[in-house]
Amino acid sequence: MAKVTYIENNGTEHTIDVPNGTTLMEAAVKNGIPGIDGDCGGACACATCMVYVPEEWQGKLPEVETMEETMLDFCERREDNSRLSCQLVASDALDGIRVQMPESQH
Ligand code: FES
Repeated sequence: MAKVTYIENNGTEHTIDVPNGTTLMEAAVKNGIPGIDGDCGGACACATCMVYVPEEWQGKLPEVETMEETMLDFCERREDNSRLSCQLVASDALDGIRVQMPESQH
């Protein structure tokens, strides 16, 4: 289980418990958190689930794979710390993580 805080672009925070094995995108959609659409259902094909991950959490995440890299390239608000939340699977190691949504997903 990971307690995950999603921060909207306007600063509004939503903290939820995400079961291990669930992606951060799935949990956000299921809980109606604004700013993460997940249009492709997690197939790494829409990039509407992008989040910014603080530097201190980067090392706990899986490497960016080719498909994710390709989709991130389509995001006009991509930053160095951008990740697709459908590729981030909750685990105890991510307990306490905070991710921020870009303005373009509002
Ligand atoms: Fe479509 Fe993540 S949900 S790329």
